[in-house]
Amino acid sequence: MTDLVESGKKKIEWVKKHMKVLNSLKDLYKSDKPFKDVNVAISIHLEAKTAYLGIIMHELGANVAITGSNPLSTQEDVVAALKNYYGLNVHADRSLDESVYWENIDKILEINPNIILDDGADLGITLIEKYPEKVKNLWGICEETTTGVKRYKALHRQNKLPVPVILINDSYMKYLFDNRYGTGQSTWDGIIRSTNLTVTGKNVVVAGYGWCGKGVAMRAKGLGANVIVTEVDPIKANEALMDGFRVMKMEEAAKYGDFFVTVTGDIDIITKEHFLLMKDGAVLSNAGHFDVEVKVKDLEEIAVDKKEVRNGVEEYKLPNGKSVFLLGKGRLVNLVNADGHPTEIMDLSFSLQLEGAKYIKENRGNMKVNVSPVPYVIDKKIAEINLITKGIEIDTLSKEQEEYLNSWE
Ligand SMILES: NC(=O)c1ccc[n+]([C@@H]2O[C@H](COP(=O)([O-])OP(=O)(O)OC[C@H]3O[C@@H](n4cnc5c(N)ncnc54)[C@H](O)[C@@H]3O)[C@@H](O)[C@H]2O)c1
Repeated sequence: MTDLVESGKKKIEWVKKHMKVLNSLKDLYKSDKPFKDVNVAISIHLEAKTAYLGIIMHELGANVAITGSNPLSTQEDVVAALKNYYGLNVHADRSLDESVYWENIDKILEINPNIILDDGADLGITLIEKYPEKVKNLWGICEETTTGVKRYKALHRQNKLPVPVILINDSYMKYLFDNRYGTGQSTWDGIIRSTNLTVTGKNVVVAGYGWCGKGVAMRAKGLGANVIVTEVDPIKANEALMDGFRVMKMEEAAKYGDFFVTVTGDIDIITKEHFLLMKDGAVLSNAGHFDVEVKVKDLEEIAVDKKEVRNGVEEYKLPNGKSVFLLGKGRLVNLVNADGHPTEIMDLSFSLQLEGAKYIKENRGNMKVNVSPVPYVIDKKIAEINLITKGIEIDTLSKEQEEYLNSWE
């Protein structure tokens, strides 16, 4: 146990040094303690950066209860340190047993949250659907990712959303950096760490050319790969084409890929008929939120044999004599087979979470029940603080420039 705690502490100490925007916010608010007596429930991939967000919220006065947002992205040493060294209320396990995941969600809802920091919407939706009596205590929710945003928007369309949701994901300082550069770098970190294979000269198929897909494709190109993009949106497909990538249907791309990465937030992107078209040794991974993009159920169904060949890499022998390798059981490869996004990227996203929570607290009762990104002033504030932490100054508009830009003459 002590080894686990020590290992978790080291990871948290490391991110603490590099999450400079969060540290600036902590310094700014430490005397006011804006979250004093506020119950905050957090469900975000539980590794060191999330742990540090929880620790800061706690230092700023919050009663924090924390769990992970995916059964396999939880890091046990981080959990041990949070519980036994930092004394936080943590319920999280790295477990393939889905029921354990849902039990942990139930446990952290016992604090009757005023604010929820969510990643994928499981926490908030569980409260709303399963514990309607807890809704009266809830002031609002901050949602981290695209998939969660879609789910809260769908709930709102059906008039089932009882509280405002701040869409952290749809804020500039989130998706421009986290989805693009964060997913871009950490997805390749996960693939390279777990396979130890070259990327240069290989064919990489990226399914989905949204913010995450752009990052994954950009970094694959930087590693020397030939990138193929699959899309359903003709505008995104044009964008991929103009960015220099080949665009085709998955049915075609399946024959060429050495590496496949799905980042659509959709279901059934790579299925039975695609697996059977693939080259021997193709490597399959998913960086979208849920494990439904590479259809693992189909793989399980058609495979004649399956075994783990490296940590986080499973070989599926197909009836045609070929093998394909699945990374991280088809769950977020950057979190299951690596440490998630780089620290400085999560510093931005989690600073938005903190500011979003502060906004909810300060405006509770006066906010419309709606789904919207953080107010622009918050985005701008995080951008400015980030530049300050890097010692970068930018120009400001003169009065004449402002007038010129705002005039029609
Ligand atoms: N791995 C991570 O750490 C991480 C980080 C941020 C977001 N995400 C997740 O990644 C997913 C994508 O996020 P995003 O921000 O890029 O979303 P996005 O909406 O910007 O992009 C998704 C793209 O996929 C395309 N698409 C949808 N269905 C498709 C299909 N059947 N075939 C091909 N393309 C299809 C859409 O047209 C769109 O262009 C979401 O599930 C999100 O929650 C993961």
